[in-house]
Amino acid sequence: MKLLHIDSSILGPHSVSRALSAEIVKRQTALHPGIELTYRDLAADPALHMSGAHVEAWAGGHVEGAGLSCDLETGEEYIAELFDADIIVIGAPMYNFSVPSQLKAWIDRIVVAGQTFRYGEAGEVQTLLPPNKKVFIASTRGNVYQPGSPTAALEHHESYLKSVLSFLGLHDVTIVRAEGLAFGLDSKNTAIRKARSDIAAMTA
Ligand SMILES: Cc1cc2nc3c(=O)[nH]c(=O)nc-3n(C[C@H](O)[C@H](O)[C@H](O)COP(=O)(O)O)c2cc1C
Repeated sequence: MKLLHIDSSILGPHSVSRALSAEIVKRQTALHPGIELTYRDLAADPALHMSGAHVEAWAGGHVEGAGLSCDLETGEEYIAELFDADIIVIGAPMYNFSVPSQLKAWIDRIVVAGQTFRYGEAGEVQTLLPPNKKVFIASTRGNVYQPGSPTAALEHHESYLKSVLSFLGLHDVTIVRAEGLAFGLDSKNTAIRKARSDIAAMTA
């Protein structure tokens, strides 16, 4: 079995999503001894934003410069890692109501027509990924976004991630959430404790 572990927080050792994603990986490793780990720190080593040069290269045109060439290879590695992984663990903080731009750059490189999905004759979306992958998201946010609350309409974070994953045929998604992290130390500690206990309770 293989596990792909992705972090995207810019807060390094202060990051809550990094701490929680690492705990999920530890728990999954205990549940699946011998599982092979691949790690991507998207904050330390981000993909380039997509550009016209990327589109030109994908269309078979000229690849301008070593930087672009290397970045195109990275994109191919992302897709290969996604195909290979049985379990995907994503550390995903909310920044400005959505995912960090580094995580969005990864998404931009894995949602690729003809590689990870295609449209059928009736226009339906067909995933090209092997079935039965499990996804765990360590979701962290300063505020809370309960359905029905005034902030609910600003929630483009978990909902966005789940939509993209579902588009690719990844429907088995477990969210481990720590929110209200900006509401003082008590609220933060309670949220982290709850997330840790959710991770400890994982049985698969
Ligand atoms: C640049 C930045 C933008 C943020 N934007 C939001 C936001 O829009 N909504 C929110 O609830 N919290 C926001 N936060 C708070 C983070 O979601 C919170 O600090 C969380 O712990 C971040 O996860 P991390 O510790 O893994 O980086 C933001 C934090 C940063 C650093």
